[in-house]
Amino acid sequence: MSLHPIGDAHPCSSDLEGHSYACEGKKLWHVMLCQWCHGEEGRGDGQTARDMTDDWGHPVRPADLTYKWLFKNGYEPKDIYRSIFGGLNGTPMQSQSTTVQWTQLGEHERWEMVGYVLSLSPAARPVLHLRDFAAQRDKRIGPSGRVVSGSLQGTN
Ligand code: HEC
Repeated sequence: MSLHPIGDAHPCSSDLEGHSYACEGKKLWHVMLCQWCHGEEGRGDGQTARDMTDDWGHPVRPADLTYKWLFKNGYEPKDIYRSIFGGLNGTPMQSQSTTVQWTQLGEHERWEMVGYVLSLSPAARPVLHLRDFAAQRDKRIGPSGRVVSGSLQGTN
């Protein structure tokens, strides 16, 4: 079981400036093929996620969007908007502003996309206690030293 399965934590309820944007954003997520890289559930495990490199040849992984507190570019709505539509130069995360689909959509749909990304994280930052972390680490890291299962589960 994951800590914050999509739909459970915030079923279409990301409140962005008083609006509930996330439901429409979920459709756009698929139309815009975000899942290719970020995975169906936004965990950074899409089909093209492995073996990605940045412009300097360094390995890079699509962000796990289910834990906004680790976003490099911030997690305020405006930050996420900037990440998506400005892009992260030098990485496979290109600006989405110029893709054909986005040029046909309006500002409202862009914020719906932002709302959906925010809805992938729990409302409050989960607290992971040290003893829980140790217990879960063994389950999570496989014999190869690679992560074998999803997010660590915390208790609030
Ligand atoms: C071609 C693969 C690819 C596609 C398609 C893609 N992304 Fe990304 N995305 C990435 C990668 C790789 C990163 C991480 C870059 C880094 O950490 O330097 C990223 C980062 C992000 C971030 C920033 C997280 C942070 O750390 O600040 C957001 C938000 C995001 N993506 C949302 C989206 C959304 C929404 C879509 C669909 C409209 C999308 N991405 C499509 C590859 C992709």
